[in-house]
Parts: sequence; C-alpha cells; structure tokens
Amino acid sequence: MNASTSEATSDLSFKVDRDHVGWLTFDRQGASVNVLTPALMQELDALLSQLESRIANGQMLALVIESGKEGAFFAGADVEAIANLSSAAQAREAASVGQRIFRRIERLRVPTIAAVDGACMGGGTELILHCDYRIASDRSSTSIGLPEVRLGILPGFGGTVKLPALVGMQNALGIILSGKPVRPARAQRIGLVDRVAPSARFRSAVSEFAAEVVSKRVQPATPQLGFAQRLLERTGPGRRIMFGAARKQAAAEVGSFYPAPYRAIDVLSSAVGLKADAAYALEATALGELAVTPESRNLVRVFRLSQAARKALPPDVTERGRPVEKMCVIGAGVMGGAIAELAAAHDIPVVLKDIEQDALDSGLRHAADLLRKAAVARVFSDEEASLKFALITGTLEYGDIEDADLVIEAVVERMAVKQQVFREAEAATGNAVLATNTSALSVDEMANGVVRPGAVLGLHFFNPVHKMPLVEVVAGPRTDAEALATGFGLILALGKTPVLVADRPGFLVNRLLAPYLNEAGFLLEEGRGVEDIDAALESFGMPMGPLRLLDEIGFDVARHASREMASSFGDRMTPSGVLDRMIDDARLGRKNGLGFHRYQDGRDRGADPTVEALFAKNSALAAGPAASASDAEEVRSRCLYGMVNEAAHALEEEVVDGPDSVDLAMVLGTGFPPFRGGLLRWADAEGIQKIHDALTEYAGALGSRFAPAPLLVRMAEQNRTFTDLN
Ligand code: NAI
Repeated sequence: MNASTSEATSDLSFKVDRDHVGWLTFDRQGASVNVLTPALMQELDALLSQLESRIANGQMLALVIESGKEGAFFAGADVEAIANLSSAAQAREAASVGQRIFRRIERLRVPTIAAVDGACMGGGTELILHCDYRIASDRSSTSIGLPEVRLGILPGFGGTVKLPALVGMQNALGIILSGKPVRPARAQRIGLVDRVAPSARFRSAVSEFAAEVVSKRVQPATPQLGFAQRLLERTGPGRRIMFGAARKQAAAEVGSFYPAPYRAIDVLSSAVGLKADAAYALEATALGELAVTPESRNLVRVFRLSQAARKALPPDVTERGRPVEKMCVIGAGVMGGAIAELAAAHDIPVVLKDIEQDALDSGLRHAADLLRKAAVARVFSDEEASLKFALITGTLEYGDIEDADLVIEAVVERMAVKQQVFREAEAATGNAVLATNTSALSVDEMANGVVRPGAVLGLHFFNPVHKMPLVEVVAGPRTDAEALATGFGLILALGKTPVLVADRPGFLVNRLLAPYLNEAGFLLEEGRGVEDIDAALESFGMPMGPLRLLDEIGFDVARHASREMASSFGDRMTPSGVLDRMIDDARLGRKNGLGFHRYQDGRDRGADPTVEALFAKNSALAAGPAASASDAEEVRSRCLYGMVNEAAHALEEEVVDGPDSVDLAMVLGTGFPPFRGGLLRWADAEGIQKIHDALTEYAGALGSRFAPAPLLVRMAEQNRTFTDLN
C-alpha cells in the first residue's frame, strides 16, 4: 500500500488515498460557500496538469471531486466576475476558458466521480456534468441546478452541451429554462446522478462507490427515454415540436422581456448533431452576447443587492441578536396564520394566539394548508409537513410563552388594540423582542406603554407571506440594537430578505405604491379603460397592473392605507374618489368577487365591463375607444414618475440608506421588473431631466401632486443620477 500523499493550494486540496483514489477538495478559504472565481479556475487548471502526470504514472485509479464545506457543494460561478465582464468578446473568452478546463476533467484517463453534498448550482453543476459519475447525498439542502437564466445568461461552461447528453433534451430544457434546482430523488430518476446516499455516512458511501467504479461494477448512466420521448428527441419533426413548445412556454412565462431563455433554446436546438467543439463554441458565443445585455446587467445587479442584504447587518446594528428558538404570533388572521406557518416551516416552535376560536381555527387551517402545499411542491415530505405543523400551538390564552424569544403581533390595524396587545405580551413573556407587522402605524407610538420600548420594532411582512421575499425591518427611534439584530437574524433564518427602514408612515414600499395606485384611480376617473391602464404597466413588466393590484389588496384595506398616507403627507397623496365609489357600489376587490375585474370560484374572469360605467360621466376626457400608444406612454409615466418622485422624498427623509435599498425593496416587495434593475436604476436610464420635466408639466396641467421633490430638482440641475447618490 502506498502512503497517502497530499498537496494543498489555497482553495483546493488534493490527496491520494490508500486505494489509489484521488480526492480533489474545493474549500474556499474564508468563505461559507465555494464559488468558481477566475482565480480558483486557474488553480484547478494548474492542479489538473499534476493529476494528468500522476495518472500517466499509474498512481491513481479514480478521482473524486468533493467540497470541503459540509452540506454546501458549490454556489455557482462568481457573480462578481460576471458583473465585471466589459464586452461580449471578453465574456465569450471567459466561457471558453472555463469550458477548456472542465473538458480537461472529462478527458482524464481515470473515472471521475463528483460527490455532491449540499446545493450544487450553476458552474458547480457544469463541473459535475464533466465527471463520469455523480453521487449525491440525501441531505435536505442537496439539489442540483442551472439558475443562469435568472441572471439573464445561460450556462457557459458546457452545461448546454453536457446536460442534454446526460438526461435527454426535454429534461435539459426544463432544468435550463426554469432555473429551478432538482432534488436528489428526481436527479436519480432522470439520470442526473447515479446514486443517492445518506448524508450521515456520505463520505464512506462515496469511498464504496469509488471502489465499485474502480472494479468496474458500475457503469455510467445513459439517458432512459421512453418511447414518446425518443420520438420527440430523436426525430426531426419531434424536435421541432419539442423546441416549439419550449418557445411557447417561454413566451407565456417571460414574454418578450427576457432574452436568455430564447437564446438558450436556440443554442440547444442548433447544437443537435454538432461535434462537441462546435457546440461548446455556440454556447460561449451566446453567453458572450447575453452577459452584456441590459437585462442581464440589471438581473445581476438585483441578485447582488439581495445577496448583500442577506449577508451583512446594517452598520448601525452593532450588537448581535439572540437566536429565536421560540416565538409567539398574536392574531391568527391572513398574516398571522401565514407567519406562523413560515416559522414552523423553518423549524421554529410557535404559539399562535387569537381571541376568537373561529379565527384561531381558520389561522391554523391556513398554516396547515400552506404546509401541505409545500409538501406537494416537494419542498419537504408529507411526514415533515406534519412534524412542522405540530410545532404550532393554537391558543386563546396567554401562557406557555414566558420563554419566547420574540413576539410578533398581527392583530387588527388599530393603535389602541396593538398597544394593549404589546402590554399583555410583555407581561406574559420574560424578555422577548416585541415585533409588529403593522403596515402603516407608528412603531414608536406602539411602544408607548410597554416597560421596554427598546424591545419594540417592526417586521413588516408582505402578503402572501410564503411568496413575498421582502420584510421591511422597521427601526423606531427607541428600538435598541439587540432587538434590531434579533429581528434581522430571524428574517434571515426564515429565508427572507430584510431591508432596514425608518419609522415613517407607509415605511418604504407602501409609501411608494401610494402615488402609483392613486394615479391609476385618477386615470380611471378621466375615462381611461381598466384594461388600458393595467396593460400599460403590464407591458412595462409589472407583474400585474395597478387596478388588478388594488383588487388583490382589497378596497377597504387600500382605502384605509391611502387615507393614512394622505393624512401624513397631505396633498400629494390625496386619493382619487375611485375606491369610495367602488366600495359604495358594494365592491371590495377579489375578496368578494367584485373588483375592477370579476372573480368567480377564485378565478379572474377579466375586466368587469360595468366598472367603466361607474365613471362614465368623465368619459369625455377619454382618448376614445382605442387607446393609442402615446396614451399608454402617458399612463405609464404618470404612474411610475409619481413613484420615483416619492422615492426622492423618502430618500431625503432617510427612510432607507440609499437608492440601492429602494431598488431592492421595490423588486422584492412589489415585483417591480427585476430586468429593469429596480425603480431608481430604471429612472436613471429613463433620464432624471426627462422625469423632472414631465413632472413639472403634469404639476401644471393635472395638479400639485406631481410637483418634483426637492432632491429631484437638485439632481436635474446638477445633472446627477440616483446611481451617483449610492
Ligand atoms: P385579519 O383581520 O385577517 O386578522 C387579524 C386577527 O387578529 C383576527 O383573527 C382577529 O381575531 C385577531 N385579533 C384581533 N384582536 C386581537 C387581540 N387583542 N388579540 C389577539 N388576536 C386579536 O388581519 P390581517 O390582514 O392578517 O392583518 C394583520 C396585521 O398585519 C395588520 O396590522 C395589517 O395592517 C398587517 N398587514 C396586513 C397585510 C395584508 O395584506 N393583509 C400585509 C402586511 C401587513
């Protein structure tokens, strides 16, 4: 037996064990995850030369590639490096270099085995695709994916070449176009991994697997295609149908806003039958083109902002918070039930308290329902869903919460009730942080009456909680650092992205939405059609138009919020009369089936033709039956410029720390189109002077609500952009 030998560079180490199996371990120094930086790729390249000579000398019979970070295989390519690419040629070259290095692994003259324990994304997936075998652990975080299209690019290190060869074209299309990761069981079914092993004894399972490979007791998987799939994938007409369907699906999902999925389909379809070199070259060229599109630049930017928000506590949160090991949610309504579910889904025991048995029952049902849906979506198993549900205890009494680390109230939006609830909660707990989910009330005022006002902060979740990634963390003037840090820690533990906001009316997101939604009302009163207003903003990329959004929010809730905004900010937030008119007509939005659209059995039945009649008296102002393109342009400008203007007011009041936070919050909190990079990045691209001039003109023609904010005026005078302010 040879003694094992080992070599280590900074992020890569290599050793050969007694069975002549080489172990190549990625372990990026000083980082919690492995990322394929250009420097790491170079190290790998150099190490491969050594491996080749060892193999030539007969010193190694197989190579295992693993991560030194338990439960975290590879986070993917280096987003920083993608952001720094300055030209299509440079991006193409970077892809070609990566491809060349990975193809060296493919050509090693010993069997290669990737041992995947934890998430394996992007470039990491392309790395393992160039190995002969893949073994994955059954850990809940283990998954394999190619999320590149979400950054506006496509896999560029050979993913589009290797994946279809391994799992068939249809599966490859699904994985590349959705960007969604594949869990181990499915990965094994489709041939993406050869074996799944228990994470508790993963390393020894990998050794055993390597021994089987060396003794030729296993063979690499070949794609297992059924008859219909073979017909689709292996015949010209079949492929035309398959790629046609993929294009249709892309059109339905991303419309014309995102070029990457279409380009990926082109690359995959053009590569069929090509020699490997040509297929790799096609991929590199397409990556080069996509990496410098504005869409990709903006998507990468938003991704980096959200990573940064999830990494660092804001500078003024100095003390570490305590981990939340038990929490209490008060109010089991729409929000409370969903927050309780979120906590339980992340294995935090929760006491859910209400004052009405019916409300409590319905909150618990809501939580159970969400957990069941997560099980159906295979986020976890049915059994796990039941275990998680058992973490929620429903109650009508305080009790059993003295050891809760954090209480969050989600009771009715009334100051006196919330103050009372905080007093009761403080008395029933020892030292808990007291959080409120209020959307509009003052956090500081809510702290009046408690013994520890420093323990009070806002954690503003968005509806629906399980889908919306943003939580506004509201710091009142008296909120202490421990409460803030505890709040931040909890939001991160719940998988959400926190943005720190000041205790000002509407915080950030609802405040910026107010002029946008109000303006849709004014436009309707002027006689514009429901469909025209919504279409103008949907064709800009908003997930739904402002009127459909009002339907979702509910007119009573929206009216309450808009009145609050008007009382805080005066004239510029004075709402149109549309919500009053709709409520007078017994319409509440989606919740009672009657909004700007009609809803039946939970389904949207389209714009309600009777709504426009409610505002018909003003139709003389309308553009006529067919709305023109310039009309759509005006709808869009009035709604969006108002939002930008309000952002300028909010920045001046230091509601957030800068334009980056506005952009991140608006993308994550309202679905502002990420391919536009966020509200203020878009405003910069649109032109500050142009927005300023339009606002001035609207202010003259339509009302002082459009008067440009002082910050915007200064920016226009000094020819500055929001980007300059960061
Ligand atoms: P909801 O009306 O669905 O639920 C409120 C629940 O609180 C009810 O079950 C009620 O029985 C219970 N409750 C009332 N007084 C109580 C007390 N003293 N002790 C315990 N429970 C009590 O309200 P929803 O929509 O869940 O809103 C709750 C809070 O979340 C509000 O502050 C609201 O502004 C905020 N919010 C609501 C959003 C939404 O879209 N619904 C979005 C973000 C925040």
